[in-house]
This record gives sequence, structure tokens and C-alpha cells, in this order.
Amino acid sequence: MSANGQRLSLEGRDYGVITALLLDDSVSEVMVNGRDQIYVERQGKLVRAEAAFASDEDLIRVIREIAAFVGRRIDEESPMVDARLPDGSRVNAIIPPLAIDGPSLTIRKFAKDPYTVQDLVRFGTLTEEAAGFLQACVTARMNAIVSGGTGSGKTTTLNVLSSFIPSDERIVTIEDAAELQLRQEHKVRLESRPPNLDGRGRISIRELVVNSLRMRPDRIVIGECRSGEALDMLQAMNTGHDGSLTTIHANTPRDALSRLETLVLMSGIDLPQRAIREQIASAIHLIVQQSRMRDGVRRITNITEVVGREGDTITLQDVFLFQEAGVDGAGRIIGKLTPTGIRPNAMAKLYAKRISLSPALTALYPDRKAPDFTVGVRR
Ligand SMILES: Nc1ncnc2c1ncn2[C@@H]1O[C@H](COP(=O)(O)OP(=O)(O)O)[C@@H](O)[C@H]1O
Ligand SMILES: [Mg+2]
Repeated sequence: MSANGQRLSLEGRDYGVITALLLDDSVSEVMVNGRDQIYVERQGKLVRAEAAFASDEDLIRVIREIAAFVGRRIDEESPMVDARLPDGSRVNAIIPPLAIDGPSLTIRKFAKDPYTVQDLVRFGTLTEEAAGFLQACVTARMNAIVSGGTGSGKTTTLNVLSSFIPSDERIVTIEDAAELQLRQEHKVRLESRPPNLDGRGRISIRELVVNSLRMRPDRIVIGECRSGEALDMLQAMNTGHDGSLTTIHANTPRDALSRLETLVLMSGIDLPQRAIREQIASAIHLIVQQSRMRDGVRRITNITEVVGREGDTITLQDVFLFQEAGVDGAGRIIGKLTPTGIRPNAMAKLYAKRISLSPALTALYPDRKAPDFTVGVRR
């Protein structure tokens, strides 16, 4: 069982009142909104910490120290720093005049032990059955996007989906900030680069996607699609690089499609809407919608298939939906990610490719082409 312990290597440095929080394994994120307003995330819940810096100067000193640690400076001339620490943790700092109410610091600690599919099942994010379905779809090289809001657990779910990629396939991962932790050996990890202080040297996700196509990948995993790279990704998915995975910021599967459309337009390439929808409908097979629900639990709410087009509309069908059945005494939502009863289009492909399926799945969606599959008649 993974504890998802969070660790930050301070290498003996003193980060004032937040040192203890940074060293605390149960804390995954430290957010300093100001001198005396510090929040942490513990087990997915935001809580206010007791700690406070003595003064703004004290807080700025710590921010400078962290910036210096990664070879950056922060001052009035360059009042923002976004960087990865050597251990993989992400640091973002922003100071006045950009931050109006005082210096602000956010540290997302790198999970030393990322969540596994069993962890997510245990948390109630999805069921064994749904996990089996997703595993089969990834194995069968379907293109999937994980959709959700900020902090809904998209990257974590993407990491779990990527863990289903067979280890003999070559994986290229592309991210703004390396967060994915794949166990497969055969992988190349790429990270985009922000512009330097003179505004030069930027390498975008999009350039990395284009480059990755020349690297003979079996699979491309893009941490998040947030701009014109969406077009290159769709084209890659449509030209033989199937089995690719990414995440997108959207609140429903339908929204994920319109968001994708907007992102394609951001590529600056003038495509008629109809052509874009055609690309999307033929590239994307599966949308996994996730949300951090009002009880703080991160759940997959829909597993939705893209089934085709009717005129200009892309048609979707939910194959699993979270069914809410009340709230327990502790305020936790009771419910389960439940099959809708619609037989997924994916099943035909899964059976044709002889992907191994759990007994629960074969009972739910029997193989209609199997010799012993009979409807009512026995021979
Ligand atoms: N299914 C889950 N159950 C509980 N906590 C989770 C789950 N998925 C992610 N988390 C935690 O929630 C935080 C945000 O997760 P992340 O995957 O980075 O979200 P996103 O990519 O949507 O912003 C992290 O601290 C992560 O450990
Ligand atoms: Mg993310």
C-alpha cells in the first residue's frame, strides 16, 4: 500500500516557520498567502496552519533563500519565480508589487510514493470494475483525456492510467512541470522551459510535442493540454500514435470537448469548426471526468465514450456514472461509480484485441462473438 508520503529535501537549509511543514510527510502542499496566513494540504484537505512569519521581511528572506537554491533571484525587477527543486517539488513565489497583499509562496511537494490504482480504489475515487475497464482501454491503445478542475486529481489519475501502458512500449512524457512518475523503464521525459529574464529561450509544450513525434514513441503522455499543442496532439492521435493520454481543465465531458476545440483554435491554424470536430471525434475515444466533490473526496464522476458525430455535434455516451445515494454521519457522500448499462463501444475492440478482462467485466459485457455466447438458445 502506498502512503503517498511527501518529502522535501531541504539539504540543511532553514526555511523559518515553514521548515517543519515542509518536513512533515503528511503535508502535500504548503501555501503562504501572507506573513500570518499559512495553509497546508493534508490528505487532500486544506487546513490553516498555526505558524506565522514574524514579518514580511522574514518571509521574503525565505523566498530569496529558496530562489537562490535553484539559481534564481527574486526582486522588484523580477517579482515571480516558478521553479522545480532538485527533489521534484514545485515552488512558486510572487512578491509585491505584483502580489498586492504581501509576498506569497506555494510549494507543491513531490510525492515520493505516488498513488496507485489500488489507492484510488481504496479512497473511493473509482471502483475495481471501472479501473479494470480503464486498464483494458489503455492496454488496447485508446486515446483518453482526463478532465477536471484544478486539484481534482487529474495528474494523479493520468499517472495511474499511464501505469497501465505495457512495459515494452516506448513512452515519451511532456509536461510543463515534471510531475508524472512512471515506473516503466523505457521512457523519455521532457519538460517545457519558460523564457529567461530577457524573455528568450522559451520552449513550449507544443514544440516538445512536435519533437516527440520524431522520437519514435509508441505513446505520448502530455501532462496537460492548455494551448495550441492540442492540435498537434489530435493530429498525432489520428496518425498512428494512438494510446496517447493527457488531461484538460473542464467540468464535464461535454465541456472537455469545447475546451479542446478552443485550444485547437489557439494553435493559430485556421481550421473550420467542422474540421476541428472531425479531428476531435476521430482522435479521442474516452473522457474520464474527475471532480473534488463537496465532501473533499476526489472521485471519477463519468467515464464517457466519444462515439462519433451527428452533423456538427460530437456524440458522447456515459458508460460509468457516479451515483450519489446520500451522505453519511461524517458528511461523506455515499455512492459509487456505476455502469450505466450501456454497452461500451470499446468492448468490440477489447475482445477483438484479446485484451484480458476481469470476470466482473466479462459478466457485465459478454463477448457477443464468442462461440458459447447464445441468446436464449442452447445447442
Ligand atoms: N484520487 C485521489 N484521492 C485523494 N487524493 C488525491 C487523489 N488524486 C489526487 N490527490 C491529491 O490531490 C492533490 C492534487 O492532485 P493532482 O493530481 O495534482 O490534481 P490536478 O492535476 O487535477 O491539479 C495532490 O495532493 C494529490 O496527492
Ligand atoms: Mg495537474
